[in-house]
Amino acid sequence: MAKKNEGGKKLVRATPAAPVAAPGAVAINIGISATDRAAIAGGLSHLLADTYTLYLTTHNFHWNVTGPMFNTLHTMFMAQYTELWNAVDPIAERIRSLGHAAPGSYAQFGALASVPDAPAVPPKALAMVKILVEGHEAVARTARTIFPLADQASDEPTADLLTQRLTVHEQTAWMLRSLLET
Ligand SMILES: [Fe+2]
Repeated sequence: MAKKNEGGKKLVRATPAAPVAAPGAVAINIGISATDRAAIAGGLSHLLADTYTLYLTTHNFHWNVTGPMFNTLHTMFMAQYTELWNAVDPIAERIRSLGHAAPGSYAQFGALASVPDAPAVPPKALAMVKILVEGHEAVARTARTIFPLADQASDEPTADLLTQRLTVHEQTAWMLRSLLET
């Protein structure tokens, strides 16, 4: 027989399909198991950290680029950091939709990111471009590792987000890589 609380209402027993939420939180039952939600949110946390780190490096390079390609790169980097800045919010909010906290500190991003922090001393212009190529490729690899988790859990919103991010990172890497050809 179901227990009753002080208000006389039945206490609903959690089932595997409706995992118990954290204290004070409302339980989530969107058809993705708690295990899968945790795994996908974990992957997206790496993607968020990579995206934020690459955003900051790109903005840094917008400020510090020098040389004959200044105007081209200063303008190109601005378009790229703006896109990356706009991308962090949907990634973080997908993590929240899956019932997990979104990382949002430099300490957390440093621990989660596969993209290295920007160099302390600004590199030459083409070295900046090379660093950004490698950064976009690294973020693409991170996004790609989450796909099997999203597919297996029928998490179409995450798969859609990953598709959009991969399209941007692979296209941006190609454009930056083209600058390095002689
Ligand atoms: Fe600026």
